[in-house]
Amino acid sequence: MIPTSSLLAFALAVSRVAAWGDLGHETVGYVAQAFLAPNALAFVKSTISSSDDNSLGPAAIWADEVKYDDGWEWSQPLHFVDAEDSPLSGSCSVEQTRDCGSGQCILTAIANYTTQVTDSSLSSTQIQDALKFIDHFLGDIGQPLHVEAYEVGGNDISAKCSGTSTNLHAVNTGMVKKNIDDNHGGSSETYANDLVTEIKSGSFKSSASSWLSCTSITEPVSKRSPGADLETEIKNLLHNRATEKITPLECPLVWAQEANAFDCTVVFNYTKGEDLCTSSYYTNAVPVIDLQLAKQGYRLAAWLNVIFDGSTNLP
Ligand SMILES: *[C@@H]1O[C@H](CO)[C@@H](O)[C@H](O)[C@H]1NC(C)=O
Ligand SMILES: *[C@@H]1O[C@H](CO)[C@@H](O)[C@H](O)[C@H]1NC(C)=O
Repeated sequence: MIPTSSLLAFALAVSRVAAWGDLGHETVGYVAQAFLAPNALAFVKSTISSSDDNSLGPAAIWADEVKYDDGWEWSQPLHFVDAEDSPLSGSCSVEQTRDCGSGQCILTAIANYTTQVTDSSLSSTQIQDALKFIDHFLGDIGQPLHVEAYEVGGNDISAKCSGTSTNLHAVNTGMVKKNIDDNHGGSSETYANDLVTEIKSGSFKSSASSWLSCTSITEPVSKRSPGADLETEIKNLLHNRATEKITPLECPLVWAQEANAFDCTVVFNYTKGEDLCTSSYYTNAVPVIDLQLAKQGYRLAAWLNVIFDGSTNLP
């Protein structure tokens, strides 16, 4: 006889599923892999095991696989930031002190594992874990429901996808799969290659460089850090690691705000009872999914390039 309380805990645990799903995370990893500079690529190839094809693609799902394992529960809150905003009344925002006051959220986790991945006092396993956490969290932070507290990031909203009753968080996983099946040959690797082409020579070519600027679009001009960019930010973090405690970085906060803004436009914009994967909700969501996965893959490459090659090395 299992006590009710642990059944409840189990139900809560399994319900907080991954919104990008394995396919979305693999896509982010594969996009990044295509843009790695020489030292970053060499580091990734020697750090990620051959069972993950020495690639950020397959390695990106590990953090979701371990989070319910014994001894890894502590990592669950690091996958998201519970933004206490009001997306249904059109008010979207992410604030570090309000939403990550405990210091245990995706904003701090990215800073944490950025310092760990180059910390030579750590074991090779800890360094590999740090790389796989970065690989995963740079995907999660671009997912609108991972930067939203409302109804537990959509987990508590029932919704339908291609005839299956599920919740809004899971619908997002279903939409990524459907997009890949419909438009990219059913493979996350093909999908990633298609996004890489859009970045290099297609619809994302003109905006990709702006993805690397971390100047907040939501803060008043007077409060923005001048010239805040990912390169300066990572270099400062790694330079000060010995003396400073982990504080969230500007870039992840800006990315979270950007993803969270979609909660006020597309994410909660549906009619109760409609099948979200076969209606205009899906058609409206696909360009956002493409954009967010491409962006986060590109940013992941830039992040690792700065760490290992000293600059973003990207157009
Ligand atoms: C930082 O990393 C350590 C080791 O994995 C972990 O125990 C801790 O919870 C992490 N903290 C954050 C905020 O990511
Ligand atoms: C909300 O959904 C409706 C119906 O599909 C659509 O016409 C409208 O453009 C959507 N709004 C946004 C901001 O995407």
